[in-house]
Amino acid sequence: MNTLEQLAAALPKAELHLHLEGTLEPEMVFALAKKHGAKLKFPDAEALRRAYQFKDLQSFLDLYYEGAGVLRDVEDFRSLTSAYLDKARRDGIWHVEPFFDPQTHTARGISVKTVVDGIVGALRDAEKKHGITWRLIPCFLRHLSEEDALKTWEELKPFRNLFTAVGLDSSEKGNPPSKFARVFAKVREAGLKVVAHAGEEGPPAYIREALDLLQAVRIDHGVRCTEDPALVKELAKKRIPLTTCPLSNVRLCVYKKLEEHPLKKLLDAGVSVTANADDPPYFGGYLLKNWTDCIRALSLEAKHVVQLAKNSFEGSFLSEPEKRKWIGEVEKFAAKSGA
Ligand code: ADE
Ligand code: ZN
Repeated sequence: MNTLEQLAAALPKAELHLHLEGTLEPEMVFALAKKHGAKLKFPDAEALRRAYQFKDLQSFLDLYYEGAGVLRDVEDFRSLTSAYLDKARRDGIWHVEPFFDPQTHTARGISVKTVVDGIVGALRDAEKKHGITWRLIPCFLRHLSEEDALKTWEELKPFRNLFTAVGLDSSEKGNPPSKFARVFAKVREAGLKVVAHAGEEGPPAYIREALDLLQAVRIDHGVRCTEDPALVKELAKKRIPLTTCPLSNVRLCVYKKLEEHPLKKLLDAGVSVTANADDPPYFGGYLLKNWTDCIRALSLEAKHVVQLAKNSFEGSFLSEPEKRKWIGEVEKFAAKSGA
C-alpha cells in the first residue's frame, strides 16, 4: 500500500450510498436459502459470483431482487446489516446512512416491521460495539407505480421516527422523479428529508427534477450532471452532495473504465462529491476499495482524498456540531500525515 492508500484507510469516513440488500454476499445467499429451504438457480456461491457480469442497471437489478428473496425473518435482516457494519468499521467508516427497499419485501408478504426490527437492531448493536452512528433511509422502487409508493408510505409512517430521509431507487430510465412528486410531498410534510438516485443512467434533466420537484437535498450518483455545465456550476455553488459509486458505474457500464469516471473533475469543480460502495459484492468492492481504485485510476492527490472524507461528513444528515467535529478530525489526521 502506498501512503495515499494508507491515508484513505486511516481517515474517518461516512458512507452515504449503500443498499443493505446489495451487501448480500453469495455465501450468505446460500446459507439463508438453506435455512429457509429455498431453491436457487445457481449450484453454489462461486457460480453465483461468476454471474455478476452486467450490461446495464436492469441486468443487475434482476439478479439483485432475486437474491433479496432469501431475506425472510428479523434475524436475516439483522445478520445482513451486522455483516456490513463489521466491514464498514474495518474500512474506517464511523457514520453510515444505508438504504433499504421496503417494497422488495412487502411484495413477498414480509412486513415493514420485520425488516426494520432486524436492520435497526443491528444498527443499535454496532453503535454500542463499534461507536458507529447511523441514519436510515427507506427507498421507493421507481419501476413500481405511484400508487404502490403511496401505499408503502402508509406502511412506513408508523416507523418514521427511525428514518431521516426517504429515497428513490431502481430502474431509472423511463421512471423520472416527477412520477413520485405527490408521495415525496407527503414525506416532506412528515418532516423527513428527500434523497433520490438521479443521473446514474438517466439524463441530467432527472437531476433537475429531483431537485426542483422532489426537493431532494442530496443526489445519489448524479454523474451525468457533467453533460450540463450549468447544472455542475449550480451543484457546486449550492454544495448539493452527489453520492457517487465509481465501481458500480464501471460494472453497470455507465463508463467503460474507471479512468473515465468524473469523480476528480467534479471535486476540482467544487462539487461536494463522495465515493461509496452502492452494492459492494456485486460490484467488486466496499467503500475503501472504491477510494483506493480511484486513487490509482484517476491519479488522485492527497487533497482529493481529504476532500472526499470531509464531503462524506458535510453531506451527511448528522447535526452541524457533529459534522464540525468529524471534519475537524479529518483535518487533524490529514495534518498528522502531512497531507
Ligand atoms: N438499487 C440498488 N442499487 C441500485 C443502483 N445502483 N441504482 C438504482 N437502484 C439501485
Ligand atoms: Zn444506489
